[in-house]
Amino acid sequence: MASLLTVLNENEKIIIASNSHQSVSNGIFLAKAKKVVVDVKFSYPFINDGEILAEDIEKAIIQNPKAKAVLITSPNYYGVVSNINKISEVVHKANMILIVDQAHGSHLPFFKKDFAAECQGADIVINSPHKTMGAFTQCGLLNVCSDRVDRFFLERNLQIIQSSSPSYLFLTSFAMNLEIMENYGVEIIREWKTNIETFLDKITYLKNLEVLQLDNLDKSKINIFAKKTFDKIVDGNFIVKFLENKGIFLEMSFDKIALGMSGIGSQKEDYENLFTALLELDEIIENKFDSVESLEALDVLRIKSFNDDNIGLKVNNLLDSKKKVLRLKKQNIDIKEEQKFYKECFFSFKQDFVDFENDISDTKTKVNCNNIERLHYTKAVNRILAVNITPYPPGIPILTIGEICEADKLQIAYELVKLGQNVMGMDSYGNVSVYKLNH
Ligand SMILES: Cc1ncc(COP(=O)(O)O)c(C=O)c1O
Repeated sequence: MASLLTVLNENEKIIIASNSHQSVSNGIFLAKAKKVVVDVKFSYPFINDGEILAEDIEKAIIQNPKAKAVLITSPNYYGVVSNINKISEVVHKANMILIVDQAHGSHLPFFKKDFAAECQGADIVINSPHKTMGAFTQCGLLNVCSDRVDRFFLERNLQIIQSSSPSYLFLTSFAMNLEIMENYGVEIIREWKTNIETFLDKITYLKNLEVLQLDNLDKSKINIFAKKTFDKIVDGNFIVKFLENKGIFLEMSFDKIALGMSGIGSQKEDYENLFTALLELDEIIENKFDSVESLEALDVLRIKSFNDDNIGLKVNNLLDSKKKVLRLKKQNIDIKEEQKFYKECFFSFKQDFVDFENDISDTKTKVNCNNIERLHYTKAVNRILAVNITPYPPGIPILTIGEICEADKLQIAYELVKLGQNVMGMDSYGNVSVYKLNH
């Protein structure tokens, strides 16, 4: 937020990627600036996120030459990294500033420099050492990597938005991280990489399970999925649930993927235990899935895990029902349709906030930006949102403050709420806050 307040003045534009965290929309809102949204390119059929292409950023820059900055998230939640080097060239050629939200990659400068935004030309890089390193939660870190950034204003804005009472717990955890990396960093990172490589080598022997491998994937993220034939039964949630029963806890599941995050503290035994459990699951699939009884037994486990309140399955279930709504539920869903569906349902891709102070041609009415009312989502359609609607995790808003409420997205949000997922901006009854109208 401090970096957004620093690079943007009122009404100025910033180019952002559609998978940006809600903190990005919030910063733009505080700066009273405008956003131009660039779509991500989906990386893999059943992952609802992707990389940001330099070509797409370039197109947006050509269309918005007066934009001040570009902000992208790299790596994304699944570990997919964008080509920061290429993007920074394009951004700097246009005299703009490149901000990279590297919340999921604070280990990258040590782990793989080619992927680290700090080493690839970004001007500002924001890290969350509490995700993959060893700091306490809330230890966000802002790195300024070039002279294009006005450090005075950045520091002033940091002071404005931060607490004036620093937490000594946080500072100590930072200091400990520094000490660990200085004294043992080389060894720890070497071991981390070796453990992952060994794990990935062993995984290739599994007949029915796979771990996602892409050239632009940060290998510390372990995206597990079932090979084609079984993915309808063994989806991401199934894998999460199976592993939980073995005392192994992953980050989340989405559709077919079970996402595991390794970190600086992961030990050799953790990878070994994960492999042993996956081997067991692989054998179950291999040996028993050919009988009707075993399929039914697994279905029982699946239903049981649904009742166990697992958000991953709930989202998957929602996806299923939503696909039905969209009449996409065929035997083989067209990949492009599936990705279009992901995009439409899970990203806010509006180009701009509504201009509060002027008439809104879509609604033919005026908005009173100082007055808010709380409405059931079914009555909020076509009204202007006064909050972000953000499923959490992963924290990417599907609708942002100032957007016109779309019926379909509100329904998605409510389905998630009903299924028990935390959706910021919508309560358990499906109420949302919208701006009142001036009549
Ligand atoms: C991509 C991304 N950016 C920003 C944030 C916000 O970071 P924090 O919650 O540490 O402020 C998160 C949090 O999960 C995130 O995933």
